[in-house]
Amino acid sequence: METVILPNTDLSVSRFAFGTADCGTRIPTDQALRVFETYRGAGGNFIDTAHCYSAWVPEGLGVSERWVAEAVRRFGRQGLAIATKGGHCAFDGYPRPDAFLAPEVVERDLSESLERLRMDSVDLYYLHRDDPRVPVDEIVDACNRLADSGRVRHLGASNWSAERLLAANRSARSKGLRAFVILQNHWSLLQPNWSSLDAPGDVRYVLDSERERLAEAGIPVAAWAPVRGITELERGSSGSYDTERNRRRLEAARRVAAETGATTTQVALAYLLSQRPTAIPILGTGSETHLREALAAEGLRLTSEQLEALENA
Ligand SMILES: NC(=O)c1ccc[n+]([C@@H]2O[C@H](COP(=O)([O-])OP(=O)(O)OC[C@H]3O[C@@H](n4cnc5c(N)ncnc54)[C@H](OP(=O)(O)O)[C@@H]3O)[C@@H](O)[C@H]2O)c1
Repeated sequence: METVILPNTDLSVSRFAFGTADCGTRIPTDQALRVFETYRGAGGNFIDTAHCYSAWVPEGLGVSERWVAEAVRRFGRQGLAIATKGGHCAFDGYPRPDAFLAPEVVERDLSESLERLRMDSVDLYYLHRDDPRVPVDEIVDACNRLADSGRVRHLGASNWSAERLLAANRSARSKGLRAFVILQNHWSLLQPNWSSLDAPGDVRYVLDSERERLAEAGIPVAAWAPVRGITELERGSSGSYDTERNRRRLEAARRVAAETGATTTQVALAYLLSQRPTAIPILGTGSETHLREALAAEGLRLTSEQLEALENA
C-alpha cells in the first residue's frame, strides 16, 4: 500500500486507514482481528479509534479502544500510527457537559483513552467535534498543553470547517505552537442530506468549496464513511444519502464500474484517492472480502473523463 507523509510530521501513514468504531461490537472481536491482520499484511498501518466508541451500543463505551489495545498486543506496535479522538458532544448513551471542548473534559478523555489503549502516548490526537462558541486561540493553547505533556505526538481536528481549522493553524503559527496536521471529516462520492453543519458538535463533510483551501494549506483529509453512502443506496436504503444527486452519481459510478471492470465501491474509493487535498479513506468493514476489494481500488486509475462524469452527474 502506498504511504502518505503527514505534512510537518514524521508520520508515514498508509493510503487507507483502519476504522475501529464497530470493532468488538457490530464486528465480533476475533473477526475484526482477522480483518486487521489482512490489513496489516497489505501494508496498512493507520488505526482510527475514539473515546466515545461505541457508546451507541449498550455496554459499548470504550470497547473500540480496548479492541485496539488487543490488536496491538497481538500484532505489535512497531510501525503503527495510532489515532484517537476526544472532546465529543453528548449523545444517547454518552453524557457530556455542554462545554464539551473544555480543557478539563478533553484532558480526562485523553487519560481514559490511554488507559484503555494501554499506551503512554498516541501518534495523533483529534478533537472529535468543534464548538464554534470557543475561540480557536483557546483551543490551540489547550491542545498544545496536551502535546507538551508528551501523551500526544501530533494534533488533528475532526468535523471542523476548513475555515476554523485554518484560523486555528494561523493562531498556532503566530504563537510558535503546534498546528493541526490533518482534518477528519466525512467525505465520499455521495453527500448526505444533513441540514446543519455549523452548530456546536455538528458532524461535517468536506464541502467542494473547501477542497482547494485545504490542499493549498497541505492539510490531508482522513475521510470517514468513504463508502457507507454508496453501499446504503445500493441496498435501496432510504436514509440520508437518498437524494436525486446521489442517485445520479450512483448511476455514473455504475457506468464507470462497467467500463473498468471494477465495483461501484472501488470506483467511489478511486474517486477519493484522486482528489486534492489528499484523501485517506477510513475503512469500516468487518469483512475480509470487502477489505480486499477496497484496497484493490488503489490500482484503479480513473481517467479525467470518468472523474468529470462522476462529479457532474
Ligand atoms: N470522525 C467522525 O466523526 C467519524 C464518524 C464516523 C466514522 N468515523 C471513522 O471512520 C470509520 C469508517 O466509517 P464507516 O464504517 O462509516 O465507513 P465505511 O467503510 O464507509 O462503511 C462501512 C459500511 O459499509 C459496508 N461495506 C463496506 N464495503 C462494502 C462492500 N464492498 N459491499 C457492501 N458493503 C460494504 C460495511 O459492511 P461490512 O462490514 O459488511 O463490510 C459497513 O456497513 C469508523 O470506523 C471510524 O473509525 C469517524
